[in-house]
Amino acid sequence: MPQIASVLFTREEIRRRVSDLGRAIVSDYSHGDPVLISVLKGGTIFLADLIREVRRPLEVDFLSISGFGDADESLGRVRILKDLDTDIAGRDVLLVEDIVDTGLTLSYLLTNLEARGPESVHVCTLLDKSVRRIAPVEPRYAGFDCPDRFVLGYGLDFRQRYRNLADILAIDDMAALQADPDALVPLLADGVTPDRS
Ligand code: IMP
Ligand code: MG
Repeated sequence: MPQIASVLFTREEIRRRVSDLGRAIVSDYSHGDPVLISVLKGGTIFLADLIREVRRPLEVDFLSISGFGDADESLGRVRILKDLDTDIAGRDVLLVEDIVDTGLTLSYLLTNLEARGPESVHVCTLLDKSVRRIAPVEPRYAGFDCPDRFVLGYGLDFRQRYRNLADILAIDDMAALQADPDALVPLLADGVTPDRS
């Protein structure tokens, strides 16, 4: 049987890249304390690691949205389910994302945040699926360019599963995973990294 998923980025590769991003952010935000905003839920794992590599004062906040993928949302509409606690007027905002795919979600969020009068708004994404871009959004920081494949782990889910995998996997056999969404559960228990494809 062919394997269902293969490793795309190992935990060690992620750790090194997150550290690089942290250093780049420190050098760009050498004055003031930026507000790092994470989009629930996928972005939280990345945010937690990233902020410990940004060795300067900063604040964090969270927002939650209903995505384009949700059945009850029409294309082009995103609804804020949980808004920020922070007033970002006059602040330097860094939106921290797990993955930018079409960019539609991000484009909505940027418009929404810019309307609140921040000093600046930039984006830091761990994964950039740039080949899939529809909306013209350009993250200032990107961890890895991501191939046009479904990925999971390190915050990213498949039907709410696998956010707690330490590595990022790419799905080789989506039909098999859809037939058995728990097929990759043994990887959680073992902490085993599957082969690269
Ligand atoms: P966009 O609006 O197409 O850029 O959608 C971005 C959102 O889609 C991300 O925040 C993820 O929640 C989800 N997404 C896109 N690609 C993947 C993937 O390969 N695995 C898991 N979630 C994904
Ligand atoms: Mg997301």
